[in-house]
Amino acid sequence: MEFARILTRTQVIFLLFATISLTVHGGRHLHHWEYFDYCAISCRAHSASLTDFGGVGDGTTSNTKAFQTAIDYLSRFESDGGSMLFVPPGKWLTGSFNLTSHFTLYLHKDAVLLATQEESEWAVIEPLPSFGHGRDTEGGRYISLIFGTNLTDVVITVFTVVCFFSYEKGYLSDFQGIMEPLMVRNIQISNLTLVNSPSWHVHPVYSSNVIIQGLTILAPVKIPNTDGINPDSCTNTRIEDCYIVSGDDCIAVKSGWDEYGIAFGMPTRQLVIRRLTCISPSSAVIALGSEMSGGIQDVRAEDILAINSESGVRIKTAVGRGGYVKDIYVRGMTMKTMKWAFWMTGNYGSHADNNYDPNALPIIQNINYRDMIAENVTMAAKLEGIPAKKVPWNCTDIEGISSGVVPQPCDKLPDHGSGHVAACDFPTESLPIDNLEVQTCSYRRKYTLDNGVLKHWYLEMVQK
Ligand SMILES: *[C@@H]1O[C@H](CO)[C@@H](O)[C@H](O)[C@H]1NC(C)=O
Ligand SMILES: *[C@@H]1O[C@H](CO)[C@@H](O)[C@H](O)[C@H]1NC(C)=O
Ligand SMILES: *[C@@H]1O[C@H](CO)[C@@H](O)[C@H](O)[C@H]1NC(C)=O
Ligand SMILES: *[C@@H]1O[C@H](CO)[C@@H](O)[C@H](O)[C@H]1NC(C)=O
Ligand SMILES: *[C@@H]1O[C@H](CO)[C@@H](O)[C@H](O)[C@H]1NC(C)=O
Repeated sequence: MEFARILTRTQVIFLLFATISLTVHGGRHLHHWEYFDYCAISCRAHSASLTDFGGVGDGTTSNTKAFQTAIDYLSRFESDGGSMLFVPPGKWLTGSFNLTSHFTLYLHKDAVLLATQEESEWAVIEPLPSFGHGRDTEGGRYISLIFGTNLTDVVITVFTVVCFFSYEKGYLSDFQGIMEPLMVRNIQISNLTLVNSPSWHVHPVYSSNVIIQGLTILAPVKIPNTDGINPDSCTNTRIEDCYIVSGDDCIAVKSGWDEYGIAFGMPTRQLVIRRLTCISPSSAVIALGSEMSGGIQDVRAEDILAINSESGVRIKTAVGRGGYVKDIYVRGMTMKTMKWAFWMTGNYGSHADNNYDPNALPIIQNINYRDMIAENVTMAAKLEGIPAKKVPWNCTDIEGISSGVVPQPCDKLPDHGSGHVAACDFPTESLPIDNLEVQTCSYRRKYTLDNGVLKHWYLEMVQK
């Protein structure tokens, strides 16, 4: 086929939005060629289709084994150009499966992943060390649908995919969410529709260089704990062009819980959130905490539209958390129908266990909001701090200055006047995650429909 070659550059870019199919009648078989392109942090030299590993997309056959066999096979190409697993059109019922490095999971626009509710297809894994056992039942927690740990360079993309759980069975509250990349360096999750996670939908933990874009996340607004996206102890993360309807926070930034999070000491920092639309009638558009014991620093959120949500930006913390929330910049946020545009809760409570340190006080510092427009808001702000102790400052062996700080610091930090406080300006220099280069990856696949049964011929990368 010479078809790929005659495409001009412009046409190739146009093809980002559409898959081209060509059908040739050969006897009673129908041969199809399909071309597709997508933009990703890396392209892959090797590829295979889930159907090569016994996958059946009929909505009732379990594909847990097919997914894991396919990915185990493809993992051999980690250091040989990487690999892509193609999931064809169909309804693919599956339990949890684990990703590998230098790997792309590409879901066709008509592919739907359905999460099985067969408990045996969900491994029980170790709790997160930065959370203690508090959030999970003793002895571990169910794995997420799409899981990966200690990986580098992973892409999950498509035009559309729907994963869903049903809330009919109560035990789902023990389940993790749809995706939990744990200790992954360089990950891109784009253009997916995620539906009805039993818990946080996308939960990157201890990861860096995370790009999350074009996600539609839909959970019933009455189901608790269905946060949209939860960057947790992650560095250099970009969340953009997402539409989230949730029974909990749309985005909740985390970094560990009480003494466990303090000991683990891994902050979430360098986080960009832009072009987010959120509906969260009982929670926040962007929550910082309440598990923030490893610290949250340098969050930049802009171009946010919030409709019918409880609060806009909410800082949640408590005595015992320790850690900090600092250098938070928000600009360009439109809020329609909301209880509190800004909310800060210093007594959120909810501890990992009773061993938290009552002297571990969180620091909330340099919070900047500008160009915020709200209509039909019950109260502009509700800001609840933590009652100051008798000695609000205790300075030993330090020196420096302070500038407009209340309550007034100790004598070792003399006040040089509020002129030293920077205005609420959004930083002008970009974060490293905005400089990550993407490539256009082009593939073609040939398949046959033999009396309606899909026969896969080949799938290959098209050289540009
Ligand atoms: C995601 O969708 C957007 C908008 O349709 C498109 O520009 C982008 O290239 C897509 N990304 C991928 C990785 O498919
Ligand atoms: C996936 O990884 C987890 C944690 O490392 C492990 O417990 C589980 O058995 C793995 N699943 C498969 C199917 O290998
Ligand atoms: C991560 O994987 C590397 C090899 O790929 C291994 O050496 C290392 O021990 C792993 N680390 C953890 C925490 O599992
Ligand atoms: C204003 O907010 C209230 C709830 O606080 C809601 O019932 C009402 O529909 C909203 N009005 C408009 C015009 O959106
Ligand atoms: C201040 O800190 C020093 C050094 O940690 C400690 O010894 C002292 O008791 C503290 N004072 C108060 C009033 O908490």
